[in-house]
Amino acid sequence: MKLALTYNVKHDDGENPQGKVSENAAKYINRDLVDNYPERIDDTYAEWDSMETIGAVKSALEAGNHDVELVEADENAYRRLKDLRPDFVFNVAEGFNGASRESQIPSMLEMLNIPFTGSDSITIGICHDKSRCKEILSYYNIPNSKFFITDRPVKNGSALNFPKFVKPLHEGSSKGIYNSSVANSTEELNSEIERIKSCYGQPALVEDFVPGKEFTVAMLGNGDNVRVLPVVEINLDSVPEGFNKIYSYEVKWFFDTRENQLDIFKCPADIDKKIYSRIEEVCKDTYKALRIRDWARIDIRLDGNNVPNVIEINPLPGILPDPADNSCYPKASRAAGMDYSAMINAVLNEAVKRISE
Ligand SMILES: Nc1ncnc2c1ncn2[C@@H]1O[C@H](COP(=O)(O)OP(=O)(O)OP(=O)(O)O)[C@@H](O)[C@H]1O
Ligand SMILES: [Mg+2]
Repeated sequence: MKLALTYNVKHDDGENPQGKVSENAAKYINRDLVDNYPERIDDTYAEWDSMETIGAVKSALEAGNHDVELVEADENAYRRLKDLRPDFVFNVAEGFNGASRESQIPSMLEMLNIPFTGSDSITIGICHDKSRCKEILSYYNIPNSKFFITDRPVKNGSALNFPKFVKPLHEGSSKGIYNSSVANSTEELNSEIERIKSCYGQPALVEDFVPGKEFTVAMLGNGDNVRVLPVVEINLDSVPEGFNKIYSYEVKWFFDTRENQLDIFKCPADIDKKIYSRIEEVCKDTYKALRIRDWARIDIRLDGNNVPNVIEINPLPGILPDPADNSCYPKASRAAGMDYSAMINAVLNEAVKRISE
C-alpha cells in the first residue's frame, strides 16, 4: 500500500525554543534535579516523538512491504495529505496547539476520506480531556477516582480528603506531573493549582489519590476480538527515596534513562490471578465505552480495596523503539511475541481489517 506516516517531531536543532514554561516549572521541581539536569526540564515538547522513533516506525512499515511518505503534522499537513492521497495513514501525530490537538490529523483525514490507524477525532479528543473522559467512564460505572476541576485556589480545603492528586487537564507524557502533584494539605493543593495555571495555562484536575499498585495495559484490535497484551506492572519501589511512588515526569525522564535504567517494569505483572483478570475486564470495558479503535494503552492503579481504577487512556501510545528506553506498549508487545516491526504492522492490519469489515 501507499502509506503516509503522520507525526510531530522534537527538533533538536534549536527550533523548539526553551519557553517560559521551563523557567516557571523549575520553581516547583526538586533543586538537585534542576541543577543537574537543566536540559531535561522543559516539557513543552515531551509528547512529541524523536526522529529515531519516526524512522523506526517508517522502517517497520517498509518491512511490511509498504511505501511510506513522511507527513509532519504542521500547518501544511492538510495540503500534503490532499495531494498525496495515500491509501492509508499510520497516525502517531500529537498535534499542535489546543486541548483537541490530537484530533487535528484524524479530522483532516476524515474530511479527506482517507482511512487511518487508531481512534477517530472524537475519541482521541475526549481521551485528551481527562475530565470529559472520566465523565464517560463514570457513566458506564468503570472505576475511576472522584475529581473536580478548578483554576482558582480552594478556599475551604478542610472539607477535602487528602492526599489529592493534581494534574493538568489535558496533557500527556507526564507533562506537568511532578513529585509535587501529590498534595497533602490545602496549601500544597493551592500551590499545585497555581503551578498548573501558570505553567500550562489550563485548569487543574484534582483527583482522589489512588494508593495501590500501578499497571499499564496495551490493547490491540477491535470489537469482540480486542486483545489485552500482557499487563505491565510499574514497580514503584524503584522510585528513589524521598520521592512519591508515582510515575512522574521526574521518574520517566530524569531517573529512568537509557544510561541508567530503573528496574521499573514487570511484564507480565506478577499478581493475583483474580486481580489480573479484573484489570483485563476493566480495560476491555474502557475500550468499548470510549469506542477506541485498533490500539491504546490504559493506565490503571488499584484503590484501597484492590479495585482497578482507570487513571487515563492513551489512544496514541508512546512507542520508543529501543528497549533501553522502557516504553510500555513495545514492552507488552515483546512479551506477546511481537518485535517492533510486527507490532507496528499488527496495528496497521487491525485498522485495515476494521475498514474492510
Ligand atoms: N489519581 C491518581 N492517584 C495516584 N496516582 C496518580 C493519579 N493520577 C495519576 N497518577 C500518577 O501519575 C502518573 C501520570 O499520570 P497520567 O497517566 O494521568 O499522566 P499522563 O501524562 O497522561 O501519562 P502518560 O505518560 O501515560 O501519557 C500515573 O502514571 C500515576 O503514577
Ligand atoms: Mg499515563
